[in-house]
Amino acid sequence: MDNYYSIYDFEKQNKEVFWLNMSKSIDWITSPNIALDESNSPFTKWFPDGQLNSCYNAVDRHVLAGRGKQTAIQYESPITGQSSSLSYLELQKQTAKFAGMLVEQGLKKGDRIIIYMPMITEAVISMLGCARIGVVHSVVFGGFAAAELAKRIDDCKPKLIISASCGHEPNRLVHYKPLLDKAIQLSNHQPSKCIIYQRNALKAALISERDIEWHEAVDNATPAEPVVLSANDPLYILYTSGTTGQPKGVVRDNGGHAVALSWSMSNIYDVKTGEVFWAASDIGWVVGHSYIVYGPLFAGCTSILFEGKPVGTPDAGAFWRVIEKNKVKTLFTAPTAFRAIKRADPEGSFIKKHDIGSLNYLFLAGERADSDTIKWAEGQLSIPVIDHWWQTETGWSICANPVGLDRLPIKLGSPSVPMPGFQIEVLDDKGDPVAVDTLGSIVIKLPLPPSCLTTIWGAKDVFIEKYLKRFPGYYETGDAGYTDSDGYIYIMARTDDVINVAGHRLSTGQIEEVISGHPDVAECAVIGITDELKGQIPIGFICLFPNKKKSDEKICEEIVHLVIDNIGRVSAFKRVIIIDRLPKTRSGKIVRATMVKIANQEDWVMPATIEDESVLEDISDALKTQLFSRVN
Ligand code: COA
Ligand code: AMP
Repeated sequence: MDNYYSIYDFEKQNKEVFWLNMSKSIDWITSPNIALDESNSPFTKWFPDGQLNSCYNAVDRHVLAGRGKQTAIQYESPITGQSSSLSYLELQKQTAKFAGMLVEQGLKKGDRIIIYMPMITEAVISMLGCARIGVVHSVVFGGFAAAELAKRIDDCKPKLIISASCGHEPNRLVHYKPLLDKAIQLSNHQPSKCIIYQRNALKAALISERDIEWHEAVDNATPAEPVVLSANDPLYILYTSGTTGQPKGVVRDNGGHAVALSWSMSNIYDVKTGEVFWAASDIGWVVGHSYIVYGPLFAGCTSILFEGKPVGTPDAGAFWRVIEKNKVKTLFTAPTAFRAIKRADPEGSFIKKHDIGSLNYLFLAGERADSDTIKWAEGQLSIPVIDHWWQTETGWSICANPVGLDRLPIKLGSPSVPMPGFQIEVLDDKGDPVAVDTLGSIVIKLPLPPSCLTTIWGAKDVFIEKYLKRFPGYYETGDAGYTDSDGYIYIMARTDDVINVAGHRLSTGQIEEVISGHPDVAECAVIGITDELKGQIPIGFICLFPNKKKSDEKICEEIVHLVIDNIGRVSAFKRVIIIDRLPKTRSGKIVRATMVKIANQEDWVMPATIEDESVLEDISDALKTQLFSRVN
C-alpha cells in the first residue's frame, strides 16, 4: 500500500485501522485503542480514549530525542533587520516558563487566553505555553481592529490577554496597545491581566493594576511540566468569518489535530525531521497555526517565522534571501504573494541572484491559484508548484497533491485530489449528486477526518445550522466547484458572503453591518470584485437618506474609515459608490452575483426576476464615474 489511491481507498474502508496506525506518529501518554467515536454524531470524537500533550509533542520529545540544539523557530524580520534562532531546548525552557507564569496567574486547564501579537517568537511561545497546561488559546490576527478583538474577547472570555507594544508594517508602526485598551473598553468581559511584550521600536504605557511587562511576568516563573490532556480537550479556538458580523470560533482538539498534521508533514509536504519548512503566512490565520507552529514542530522541523512581505521589505528578493540563508525545503504561501512578486520582478531577476537550490516545492493555498501565477512560478523556480485547498474549519488540506506519498499529475486550476478521510461530493440545490464537470456545492461526507472543527465555541447550534443542516449527512464547505473524470476537484467560488482578500477571509455581510451603522446610510450592499493583486477586494454600494447633511465625498470617506476602524486595514476596503436604489429581485433579494459581473466588466444577463432593470444600468454608470478611493 504505497500510493495515494490505495491509501485513500484503504482509509475509506478501514477508518479505525488507518487512523490508529497513523496515531503512532505522535507520542501519547495513553495510546488510543479507539480511533473514531460517533456515539454523539455529528460531534465526532477522534481517539476518545487517548491522552497526550501537544506542546510535549511539538517541543519536549525532540529535546529528549537529542535534538535540543536544532533550531526550532528561525525568526526572520526584514522589516526590522533582525533575525534570531530559537533551539528546541530554548523553546522548551521558554514555553515551560510561560506556562508556569500562566499557572501563577491562576490559569488552569480549559481557561482561555487571547494572543494578539505581531509575528514574533514570543507569540509562538505563548501558543505552546498554553498547550502545555491545557489552556485554550485564541490568536487574533494583528491586522484586526479593536472592535473585532472586542467581539472575540466577549465570545471566548479570556482570563488573560497576551500582546505586544507594536507590530511592524512596511513604513508604519502598528500600535497594538491602544488597540488592545480600546478593545477591552468595548467588551463586556474583562480579562484579569494583560501581559505586554515591549518591543524596541516602541514602549507602550502600561496600566498599573492590569498590565504586566512580559519579562517581569515570565522570566522568574517556575517552569511548568506538560499536563495530561484528553485527545478531545480543546487546543485552540480560531475565529473565522461567516455570513454575519459575529465571527465563528472554530474549536480544534488536541489528538486528531496532532495526528492529521503529523501525517500531512511527510505525506503532503514531503518534509522530515531536521528539514526546514516555511509557511509565509501569519500566526493569526489557520495556515500560521497549522504550518508555522504545530505541524513543523510536531515533525521536528525548523520553522521560519517571517515578519515581512514578499515585496517592499525591502524588495521582491525577500523570499529568496530567506530561502537561501536557511536552506528552506518547502515553501507554502498564498498565490497573492506570488502575484506581488511577479508584478514587482516579472523577469525573476532577484531569484537569479540567490542560490535557492534547497527549495523542492512551492505550495499555494488560501484562494484560487490562477494559472498565470502558477506557470510563472514554475518557470522561474523549476520546481513543482502545488495548489491545495483547505479551510480554517479543517485545519489541513481537504485536497492536495501529496508529493511525499505519490507524485500525481498536476492539473492547472485544480488543487488535485481529496486527502484520506475527506469524501467529497458535489451536490445540486436539492442535495442530489451532479455529473462530472458540473458545478455544484462541494460537501464532505460525515464523519470529518481528524483535525477538523469539533464545534463552534459556545454555539453548537451554529455549528449544525451553518455546516450540517442544508445537506444532511454532509459538511457544507461553502465552496462551489466540480470534479473531473479523474476525480480532481476544482474550486470555483464561494456559495456564501465570504470573499478572499489577499488570502484573508472576510465577510461582505460583516462589512455591510458596519456600513449600515453610518447615520446617513439607508441601505447598502458590499461585493467582492476581482483585483489583479489581492484576488478580490470589497467595494460598497450605498443608498443615502434624503435629508443627509454632509457632502457625498465626506460620507464616503467616513464610511471607509468606519470599516477600517471596525474591521481593520486588512479589509482593503477603499471604494464606496453612491446609488439611488439597490438592484433587487421582486422578492427583495439584492442581485449581488450580477453586480459582481458588472463591476468585473464581464458579460451579464438581466435577471428574469429583477424588480427594475434601470437600477442595474445605473450601477454600471456609477462604477465608471464614481472613483472615491481611501485617503490614507
Ligand atoms: N497588523 C496591522 N496591520 C496589518 C497587518 C498586521 N498584522 N497585516 C496587514 N495589515 C495591514 C497592512 O498594513 C495593509 O494596510 P494598508 O492597506 O493601509 O497599507 C492592510 O492591512 C492590508 O494588508 P495585506 O493584506 O498584507 O496587503 P498589502 O497590500 O500590505 O500586501 C501582499 C499585499 C500580497 C504582499 C500581502 O497580502 C501578502 O504578503 N500576502 C501573503 C499571503 C498571506 O499572508 N496569506 C495569509 C493566508 S495564507
Ligand atoms: P480560510 O478559512 O481563511 O483558510 O479560507 C478558506 C477558503 O479559502 C475556502 O473555503 C476557499 O473559499 C478559499 N480557498 C482556500 N484554498 C483554496 C484553493 N486552493 N483554491 C481555491 N480556493 C481556496
